Amino acid sequence: MTADVQTGTVPTAIVPTGIPETLPGVSVPSESRLGPTGRPMPVFDEPGPVPPHDGARILAVCNQKGGVGKTTTTINLGASLAEYGRRVLLVDVDPQGALSVGLGINPNTLDLTVHDLLISSGDVIDPHEAVLKTHVEGLDLLPSNIDLSAAEVQLVNEVGREHSLARALRPLLKEYDYILIDCQPSLGLLTVNALTAADGVVIPLECEYFALRGVALLIQTIDKVRDRLNPRLEVAGIVATMHDGRTLHGRQVLERVVEAFPEHVFHTVISRTVRFPETTAAGEPITSYAANSTGANAYRALARELIARRPGR
Ligand SMILES: Nc1ncnc2c1ncn2[C@@H]1O[C@H](COP(=O)(O)OP(=O)(O)OP(=O)(O)O)[C@@H](O)[C@H]1O
Ligand SMILES: [Mg+2]
Repeated sequence: MTADVQTGTVPTAIVPTGIPETLPGVSVPSESRLGPTGRPMPVFDEPGPVPPHDGARILAVCNQKGGVGKTTTTINLGASLAEYGRRVLLVDVDPQGALSVGLGINPNTLDLTVHDLLISSGDVIDPHEAVLKTHVEGLDLLPSNIDLSAAEVQLVNEVGREHSLARALRPLLKEYDYILIDCQPSLGLLTVNALTAADGVVIPLECEYFALRGVALLIQTIDKVRDRLNPRLEVAGIVATMHDGRTLHGRQVLERVVEAFPEHVFHTVISRTVRFPETTAAGEPITSYAANSTGANAYRALARELIARRPGR
């Protein structure tokens, strides 16, 4: 079943992840002020220590539309979760290697990448050997480079090719609280691998006129993967990015997104600011590059909201 963005009908197969107000760490003040999404803005408290769990929660950061803020969200949500004491692994599943570059790593000098892990059948490569530390404490990276562009072709004849990434990540699950996968702008085999490995999907949506185009197709793909490959998969949330609340257009687009996916849009919205392109050049998350900026605080708020939606991490 697909979302009908014209009528705002949301597929019932999507697990609703709205925030019950009774959750610990979440409150809606009685004098509620409306947040940027036009709904009363809950307060998300600073998360406590991570309770014991069986293995990392895996989130694919996915939208087949290009340039909507997938990589920026992966880096900065990851860095914010790490600031809150979560052990985080970021996985670059885009042959462009933008995630690796955004963390200051030269993708052309890598010995081992996600590509090697995907095409090694059996236990030939220990994924720990491919993990790099970033300069943010608690934030690690499985990097990629252009080699990954060959993987879709190389995997075509593999048995269980959609499960290659899930298999490669398995030995790492115990060591992390969150694994965030940065997807490429396509719904090809690499993205299907990310969705098959994931527990949830974070969908960044750029606040511009055509934002909702393609989201129905993405939801349809998520539904198919849930049906055929990964019954755990849910929509963890839609995050509005590059929002300009000063313009009527910006506010209208956001209204439309909330109308179409009322249960799924995060209360936290990421505003448009030039600080983000600067951080890519600097090769570090905004939370360390401009620690007190609006952008850094927005991603910290997103991390708190994400944790509040699923207590237990
Ligand atoms: N909130 C923001 N405000 C301003 N610029 C932003 C914001 N978020 C991201 N950008 C910039 O927009 C561009 C695209 O962002 P990003 O690379 O994160 O998108 P993407 O979805 O990963 O792109 P691709 O589909 O190519 O992988 C980058 O230059 C980034 O710095
Ligand atoms: Mg990207």
